[in-house]
Amino acid sequence: VNPVYEATRLAHGVGALVLLDGCQSVGQLDVNVGELDVDALSATGRKWLRGPRGTGVLYVRQALIGELEPPVVDLESATWTEPDRYRLRDDARRFELWEADVAARLGLATAVDYLLDLGVEAVAADVAARAERLRELLHAIPGVAVTDLGRHRSGIVSFTVDGVAPDDVRTALARRRVIVSVSGRTSTLLDMSRRQLDAVVRASPHYFVSDDQLEAAADAVAAVAG
Ligand SMILES: Cc1ncc(COP(=O)(O)O)c(C=O)c1O
Repeated sequence: VNPVYEATRLAHGVGALVLLDGCQSVGQLDVNVGELDVDALSATGRKWLRGPRGTGVLYVRQALIGELEPPVVDLESATWTEPDRYRLRDDARRFELWEADVAARLGLATAVDYLLDLGVEAVAADVAARAERLRELLHAIPGVAVTDLGRHRSGIVSFTVDGVAPDDVRTALARRRVIVSVSGRTSTLLDMSRRQLDAVVRASPHYFVSDDQLEAAADAVAAVAG
């Protein structure tokens, strides 16, 4: 987990604005835009929030709304006032479009309610515990390297298996009903280039993953590692 507040402080120090990509944190961590002091945050509904695909949220600091022009303008975000002029709305709706998938939005709202009912802090603690347990299990397997860095680690567990391409690891695990994904260098170019990694296997155990399933996942990785 990156030190967002510290990065924001440095960015603000040179007059930059900060848009935080919270796609992998909202739903697994307690993300507080006020404490982090970010100017804007975007997040998807389909990952840790467990909402429908194609949904997401954008937060923009109130005082900044009037200064930001949305990339696309339609009759929801603006009023056509003269043949060659339009006026953008003053509020956050200037970032919205007229047409939207209402059912998906209702699903997103339900996912958020579900998370709030469980408690964001409880979910964060559960996810952190599962990820650490999986790292522990993977660490014990010869030929497996956990590649996560940092003092504060997230629910994403990245690893490689000596001599087996990450795509092949994913396929072999899927056969045992263990679902993981693969992150390639282009997903995180600076970090993976520096560490000479081409791809890593990525497991994201959420709160609903049981201890038995974590152990079964580690057994499956051990079988692949041979
Ligand atoms: C950090 C990060 N940002 C953005 C995205 C894009 O999410 P979406 O396609 O739901 O907008 C992803 C998804 O892979 C992601 O991991």
